[in-house]
Amino acid sequence: MTIATNIKTRKHTTYLIDGQLKDWNGSMADVFSPILSAEGDAVLLGTTPDLQEEQGLEALAAARKAYDHGRGEWPTAPAAERIKSMEKFISLMEPKREEVVNLLMWEICKKRSDAEKEFDRTVEYLRDTIREYKNLHREGSHITSVEGTLAQIRRGPIGVVLCLGPFNYPLNETFCVLLPALLMGNTCVFKPAKYGVLLITPLLEAFAQSFPPGVVNIIFGRGRTLASPIMKTGHVDVLALIGNSKSSNALISQHPKPNRVRQVLGLEAKNPAVIFPDADIELTVKECVKGAWSFNGQRCTALKVLYVHKDIRDTFLEAFAKATDDLKSGSPFDDADVTPLPEKGKVGYMQDYVSEALAKGARVVNQRGGEVDGNLFFPAILHPVDRDTSIFKEEQFGPVCPVLDFQDFEEVLTDIAESDYGQQVSIFTQNAETAGHCIDHMVNQVCRVNINASCQRGPDSLPFTGRKDSAVATLSVKAALRSFSIRTLVASSDKEQSLMEEVIAGGHSSFSSMHYLL
Ligand code: G3H
Repeated sequence: MTIATNIKTRKHTTYLIDGQLKDWNGSMADVFSPILSAEGDAVLLGTTPDLQEEQGLEALAAARKAYDHGRGEWPTAPAAERIKSMEKFISLMEPKREEVVNLLMWEICKKRSDAEKEFDRTVEYLRDTIREYKNLHREGSHITSVEGTLAQIRRGPIGVVLCLGPFNYPLNETFCVLLPALLMGNTCVFKPAKYGVLLITPLLEAFAQSFPPGVVNIIFGRGRTLASPIMKTGHVDVLALIGNSKSSNALISQHPKPNRVRQVLGLEAKNPAVIFPDADIELTVKECVKGAWSFNGQRCTALKVLYVHKDIRDTFLEAFAKATDDLKSGSPFDDADVTPLPEKGKVGYMQDYVSEALAKGARVVNQRGGEVDGNLFFPAILHPVDRDTSIFKEEQFGPVCPVLDFQDFEEVLTDIAESDYGQQVSIFTQNAETAGHCIDHMVNQVCRVNINASCQRGPDSLPFTGRKDSAVATLSVKAALRSFSIRTLVASSDKEQSLMEEVIAGGHSSFSSMHYLL
């Protein structure tokens, strides 16, 4: 897929440390689009600083200074002040919508409507986070009396957060951890993902203008060069990473005291769909197309393996293949459903999955499956897939979907039990007894059972988490604030009532206060 390219190359040279937008004149990293030029060449979108260990450690030092063992201005700031910073950030972020959406299309080929949704969903999430933070603050503004003890319990910050985002939601998933972490009073070092990096640059000034020096530090470069030395110092209190367990395990093991690191991790998944003979075929196909192929299957919540009951297999496969082949492929700017893949070598990886499965007895069910055009790979449905294949065992994170038959639901349950992943599952049936049986057998294996619907994170007020290698901690508007904080209390014997009354009434402490945020 090629496109006439008239994009102006963006030479971005600044990074944010200690409230300063510093200019970098060292080596730079090229950012290419997955979209090829009319001549079939890679399109250079711009360059970003290829910062070195020294700048990474400088960013960490700034975050540590701003936190100052919990005594810094930011962690001790009144809630209303932190809210003001966040509101300012939102107001400065909103005018950047077009620029960011445009870069989301160029850099990771997210189709226009999804790119717009990513931006709008993020702004809404941040607004909801402020609302939820006020609730949390109000909950902490009263004193309980338990067995002769007076206690005021609030949620306090944890410390310095290292935040590493994913390429598939480079704005949304990153900001959905970074901003709640800041609002709770933590300070952060944030390194954007390898792909989807330029789109952060229009927002650097907004960060610099909204938050006090050192509260948020944004660095560009390679994970190995920047994140590893930061972890090795032992000064990271929270690792917030959306990616895979290999990276998070490697980083955690580099921390000299891994037990001290709070982990907030969204990791890999292999969400199955289970299709029973009494499923509504039209609805099932629609949900499976959405579940397996949205953003070319590059979502942790994507349906990554389908189990179809033998009695409905042929009908389902025919309809699923047709609906898949009807997808529009092409440019994200034309809102095509299937677009080029940003990761280097990804088309080859997809082809390898297909070749191995074919060698072990599968066929590509849909006519267009596996068509290649530059970095675009048309979704391929494979059936019947042997369990001893990489496409069955691994998270493909791309446009290939294995389908297996089943006769006995127990076979599916065994696979789910033996899987390394435990995020979500989708079941398709119109029978209440079947649905009830599935729910009860799956709720303790995964963290969300979707009935006649594809897997997904939203609505964002619902808890999003996973078992086994799929996640550590829970995210949602409410849960993120909890994940980035720790309960802390002030307790006294009720004999100290008059002293505590004086502390509160005299306004001597901002923690021990009964000030209600409205
Ligand atoms: O890539 C993983 C995302 O958390 C998926 O989110 O279900 O909203 O697309 P989504």
